[in-house]
Amino acid sequence: MINSREDFVFPVKVPYSTAPDIVKLIDEFNLTSISNEVLAFKLEELNKFQDDLAKEISSDELSHSLKIICEKFNLPDAKTIKDLAKYIQDDIAILSLGKVIAICFCAPSGFIPSKVVGKSFFEIHQPIPDSELLLKMSDKLSSMLSDISRGPYRRYIWTITANPSMSQHPSMKDKFHPKSIFDLHFRSETQTTVPLGDDVHMLFSVKVEMTPLKDIWMDTVKKNTILESIDTMSESMLEYKNLRTIKSILKQDL
Ligand code: HEM
Repeated sequence: MINSREDFVFPVKVPYSTAPDIVKLIDEFNLTSISNEVLAFKLEELNKFQDDLAKEISSDELSHSLKIICEKFNLPDAKTIKDLAKYIQDDIAILSLGKVIAICFCAPSGFIPSKVVGKSFFEIHQPIPDSELLLKMSDKLSSMLSDISRGPYRRYIWTITANPSMSQHPSMKDKFHPKSIFDLHFRSETQTTVPLGDDVHMLFSVKVEMTPLKDIWMDTVKKNTILESIDTMSESMLEYKNLRTIKSILKQDL
């Protein structure tokens, strides 16, 4: 799903940083009811990647969390995280004391969603380069995010990719061979954490947007912000985000 709006999310900062950058959400948060287009996309991805995309640890605490979420957001009853994911636009996970107990991400960035189930906030973020501060703050962040007196929180991530799909499943990583900015897309995620009321459980929602990079490249300020941000990424970060080749394409185009 490619964005053609002018008001796309543009969270690029200079320098690029993995430091925890959560902001308390002032506006009311809602899970958006699914459109036919997104439902078709989710069903196709679930069919293609099957158990990679959704997994849960069945338990009373998960059933209770699903019930709370459906009541809070006026959704029909959902018995599993996959049922819930089919009612809403968002990709979603549920965490308990900072550990993922259920996930259904049909448009993941470069990871396999089922593999993070059972893992803690610290373990999930351990492979990220230059993330010492994030890892050091993992326990504090985990309890803050489920604290009903503090959340919800919002943060964003972004990248540039040659894969035009909202899903960046790792099996697609080397399938594209971009030559110019016309082969590239700007991908952003709007991430929201919502405490579920008991200071233990929280909902993690992700909304993905894709915009052709050529549309952004006409805006010199945005273009320079992207170039400067990428220039501040370490070699290991460029490798992790699969941006090495893309960086050289962006430089050629100057
Ligand atoms: C709200 C607080 C959070 C912070 C500050 C945070 C921070 C980060 C950062 C800095 C990255 C690397 C971003 C990049 O690729 O540019 C990342 C990636 C990741 N985060 Fe988080 N995160 C948060 C919440 C979560 C939660 C609740 C989950 C649970 C599923 C999660 C799962 C992941 C995964 C799986 C990746 C790797 C993505 C990939 O390799 O493509 N994060 N996070």
